[in-house]
Amino acid sequence: MTVSVEHPLPDSQVVENKNQCTTDELVLDGGFVVPDPVAGGGFDAPEINAFGHTFRDYDVESLRNKQVEEFYKMNHINQTYEFVKKMREEYKKLDKLEMSIWECCELLNEVVDDSDPDLDEPQIEHLLQTAEAIRKDYPDEDWLHLTALIHDLGKVLLLPQFGELPQWAVVGDTHPLGCAFDESIVHHKYFKENPDLNNPAYQTKNGVYEEGCGLENVMISWGHDDYMYLVAKENGTTLPQAGLFIIRYHSFYPLHRSGAYKHLMNEEDVENLKWLQIFNKYDLYSKSKVRVDVEKVKPYYLSLIKKYFPEKLRW
Ligand SMILES: [Fe+2]
Ligand SMILES: [Fe+2]
Repeated sequence: MTVSVEHPLPDSQVVENKNQCTTDELVLDGGFVVPDPVAGGGFDAPEINAFGHTFRDYDVESLRNKQVEEFYKMNHINQTYEFVKKMREEYKKLDKLEMSIWECCELLNEVVDDSDPDLDEPQIEHLLQTAEAIRKDYPDEDWLHLTALIHDLGKVLLLPQFGELPQWAVVGDTHPLGCAFDESIVHHKYFKENPDLNNPAYQTKNGVYEEGCGLENVMISWGHDDYMYLVAKENGTTLPQAGLFIIRYHSFYPLHRSGAYKHLMNEEDVENLKWLQIFNKYDLYSKSKVRVDVEKVKPYYLSLIKKYFPEKLRW
């Protein structure tokens, strides 16, 4: 579904966010921390999105944001521990169809993400904008370029061939199940209707997990992140662990923006998180009206796909 509305610029570009990270780094709108400019390679981040708002600005009153809030209400009520378990089992079968990574990029063009207040254009543009922006600043990390290209491919879950899951089960920020819902989760108030609140085992800080158990042992709300991770891993990708980590947790904003749930990470997660934080800056800020010539860059990305993936993948 595409919603096209014109919005005026908000009076202030700065939005108060109680979940701001307490670091010395530069904090831009929405509490988003901008990584060290040296590490970031001088990426020139635009200040407003395609709708004329600051990025991830959930507080500005607009039709689009009401739609986003409604989305999170559904997400927070319906994503339960049992639901995630069921989805993982179902999609691990990889019995939906066979296609190449590039075929999936083209397929994704049919999808628009309702949960995202910043993005209102075909997904392939977003994928290539993100990948090309990273490529410019990290020319030698080809795995990172490819990771950027494929990180959102799991959104095909919205399409009929993949079970046509509702938006709340595919997109939006993700969070752990089986332990307490952290206050930093966007629209936290809607958890009060989540059935998991009836299970006391899920109400403590660690819940059913042990401190330092590693994120791979944690149930994270089901969506395009976990699905694409599963597809990449089960099809034997040779992408490095950091690439798989980015794919799997790029929507886990409570962790990588607010620093929540760090007690569940192991040492490997800590290392991988550094790459995710670099990646995320590009994922967020490249959602703007910068056009990418798809045909021009296609041969480069096809060569990366060939390097890191089999010709055809099971989905
Ligand atoms: Fe995503
Ligand atoms: Fe993305």
